Amino acid sequence: MITAEDFAQQIQGGRKIEAHDEMSEEYREALLNLLMQQADSELSGGYGYIPWIAKAPSIHEKLLVAQIVKDEINHAYRMNKLLAELGINVDQRIEDMELELRLEDSNANIGTERKAADKRVNIFYYTIDSWTDFIMFNFCMDRGAGHQLEDAKHCSYAPWARTIEGIFKEEMMHVNHGDTWVHRLASNPDTKDEVQTALEKWYPRTMNIFGRPNSSKNKLYRKLGLKQRDNEEVRQAFKADITKALEGTGLSLPAWTPEYDESV
Ligand SMILES: [Fe+2]
Ligand SMILES: [Fe+2]
Repeated sequence: MITAEDFAQQIQGGRKIEAHDEMSEEYREALLNLLMQQADSELSGGYGYIPWIAKAPSIHEKLLVAQIVKDEINHAYRMNKLLAELGINVDQRIEDMELELRLEDSNANIGTERKAADKRVNIFYYTIDSWTDFIMFNFCMDRGAGHQLEDAKHCSYAPWARTIEGIFKEEMMHVNHGDTWVHRLASNPDTKDEVQTALEKWYPRTMNIFGRPNSSKNKLYRKLGLKQRDNEEVRQAFKADITKALEGTGLSLPAWTPEYDESV
């Protein structure tokens, strides 16, 4: 029987895991936690976008939003497929969750607090109240998710790394949708203030998702090859990227007071 330390050492040496009978118990638990966080976030994210098919400002935008919804449900499907391969009863799990639960006051600041028993990133509790919110969600959160997925691309669980390839490309299309619209709305004096206000709402919420610097969970994930970077490094990469994306818009990046998601 291989010890947890020997197993971790093999992972550090570049070993990739293909199936559940190759895992240590510690690895399986850590992996399930990360897969569930992504699966629940993808599904609740897709649900949050659905009303914006009907509310999008043109027939072309309705098609684009419907495409984004389809992408997110497909991401959720693929992540749940990975969970099912590890013996999780995913349909029962989804039935037991309140994935459509949203905060009544969408302007409330819940920091990093969780409101339900599932593992979705807490930004998905907030309602998308306007088209500008929808755009800013693409601009901030899809971008933030992209930075988090970067690590999974190179992770030690090969089926997840393969699944991420396709998901990552689609997330980049969602980010591009956000970028195009942020530039459009910021260059119009009638909508510039509104887009700045939406940035002030969604940027801090996105900065909250990455977890505490030097967290013990992150150290474990890195030891097991399930993450590559410290939480703070990912947060700073996101911040640098969004700062660049704002160039030429005349919008200013708001301040952020650290609040850390302990579960990451
Ligand atoms: Fe997604
Ligand atoms: Fe997305």
